[in-house]
Formats: sequence, C-alpha cells, structure tokens
Amino acid sequence: MKSVLITGCSGGIGLCLAEGLRREGYHIFATARKTADVAQLKQQGFDAFVLDLSSSESINTAITKIFEQTDDLYGLIHNGAYGQVGALEDISRQALKEQFETNVFGWHELTHLVLPKMKLKNKGRIIYLSSVLGFVAMPFRGSYNASKFAIEGLVNTLRLELSSTNIQLSLIQPGPIESNFRINAYKAFMKQVDMNNSDYQSNYEKMIKRLQSDELAAFTLPAAAVLKCAQHALSTKQAKIHYRVTFPAKLFAILIRLLPARLMDKILNKAGGGGER
Ligand SMILES: NC(=O)c1ccc[n+]([C@@H]2O[C@H](COP(=O)([O-])OP(=O)(O)OC[C@H]3O[C@@H](n4cnc5c(N)ncnc54)[C@H](OP(=O)(O)O)[C@@H]3O)[C@@H](O)[C@H]2O)c1
Repeated sequence: MKSVLITGCSGGIGLCLAEGLRREGYHIFATARKTADVAQLKQQGFDAFVLDLSSSESINTAITKIFEQTDDLYGLIHNGAYGQVGALEDISRQALKEQFETNVFGWHELTHLVLPKMKLKNKGRIIYLSSVLGFVAMPFRGSYNASKFAIEGLVNTLRLELSSTNIQLSLIQPGPIESNFRINAYKAFMKQVDMNNSDYQSNYEKMIKRLQSDELAAFTLPAAAVLKCAQHALSTKQAKIHYRVTFPAKLFAILIRLLPARLMDKILNKAGGGGER
C-alpha cells in the first residue's frame, strides 16, 4: 500500500483528497492544524496528526511521528493554505509574513524534510495545490498571488534539480472550487485589513458580502475535480507538470501566452471585479 501525506485535511479539498485517495487504496496520513479536526479524522479511521504549517515545531513533530510509522512515504500533497485578500496597500509586512509562513515556508520545510527519504528510495510524487493565481495576478489578491507565484518558482526549480531522479513534481492549478476557502479568506481579511481606514472601504463592503455568501462563482467545480488530478499525478507513469482545473484556469493559461501584457491587465482587472468580488 502506498503512503501519502496530505496537509490541511480539516475540510475542503484536503478532506476530499484524503477520502478519495483512501478509497483508491492509498494509506493516508491526514493532517490538520487543529486538534479537534485531528480527532475527527481519527474517528473516520485515518492515521491523523496535528500539523500546523506556520510552525516549524509542529511540522517537525508531525514528520517524526509519521516516519516512526513508515520510512517509505510515496506521496506528499501540499494542500493546507489560506487566501489573504485586500489591496496590497492595505496589507502590512506582518500580514504578508503570515501568508508566506503558511502558504510557502511551511510547504518548503515539509518538502525539505521528506525529500531525503524519497531520494533514498529514488521514488515519490509531490503534488502542490497552486492556483490559477499562481500564474496570473488579480487585483486585491496580491498577498495570496505572491505566495502561489513563490510556490511555482520553488517547484519549477526543484523539478529541474530532481530531473535525474524518479521523484516527480506536479502543480495543480485550480480556478474556483467548492470548499471553505472564501469563508477562511473572509476571516483573514477581518484579521489583517483595517477596512475603515482604507481608500477601498466601499469595495471591501461588497467583497465581504461575496465572501460570506453561499453563491458559487461562475464555473465552480466540486473538490472531486482536484481529486481526479491528484489520482492521475500519483498513479500514472509520467505525471503531468501542470493540471489546470476549471474553465477559467484553462482559459487564462492560454490567454497569458497569447495576449500582450497590457491587454491581459485589462482582462484581469475586469475578472478581479475591482475588489468587489
Ligand atoms: N477553493 C478554491 O477555489 C481554490 C482554488 C485554487 C487553489 N486552491 C488551493 O487549494 C488548497 C486547499 O484549499 P481549499 O479550497 O480546500 O480551502 P479550505 O476549505 O479553506 O481549506 C484549507 C485547508 O488549509 C488548512 N490550513 C490553513 N492554514 C493552515 C496552517 N497554518 N497549517 C495547516 N493547515 C492550514 C485549513 O485548516 P483550518 O480548517 O484549520 O483553517 C484547511 O484544512 C489551498 O492550497 C488553496 O490555495 C483553492
């Protein structure tokens, strides 16, 4: 049975991956940052551990426990992350730092700890939940954009460095997927952005309504669409480098190659909804 470690399994895409890959016969190490969620995962029969990506100590403790159970981890799925919304002029150094601690540095540290074991076996698959916002930028999402662009830079480099090994890296780049992402983005916004002292106060009022609403964005797909890509990336002989999920992700991947930068800016500004979406 091949073992796969997944971060951020409290809900959304992470939980869907854990459940779906277990059904496919993988042994899942499901991790979440809150003890209550870990207890819930254990109740569901998972080997579950606390793993908070913003804490080196938590990452190291989790990895030590997992390596006590196996020295043969086949897959690592970097999933746990959150979206910090807000115009960049309203994002403090601290807010950006926190975004990177979870979305980038935590992922890198985990890779750094797992890679030597994979290299010893000369096999493994590492899957990164990037985003359409990992290759195109949208206004009012700069902090999240920067974190996903950073992940893409790290993966594109690591893939070259590992090209002579049997360890394969894949980037899954979804557009809108059904999950708790928007409500968690709302929480991060309320924590970090002083909207009453912002030039964008009225935009934010509209944005908040959207983040709190249950209405799905156009072209939203269920998390199972991401599961399908992860299954492929784990099981096929040659995993794809990019898995683009949803129509907008596929479309933007083409447009960014074809259109001049200024025209692309106009399209992205429109798609970004001027901070109101
Ligand atoms: N949904 C989308 O439209 C979409 C589109 C493109 C890419 N993605 C990417 O898909 C991945 C999963 O997101 P999702 O849509 O499933 O959102 P979600 O429902 O909000 O789930 C995010 C998961 O990440 C966890 N997380 C947050 N901070 C963490 C930390 N410090 N340490 C460990 N785990 C942490 C959350 O745990 P808590 O419950 O404890 O907060 C939760 O389990 C993310 O990488 C996201 O960037 C999502």
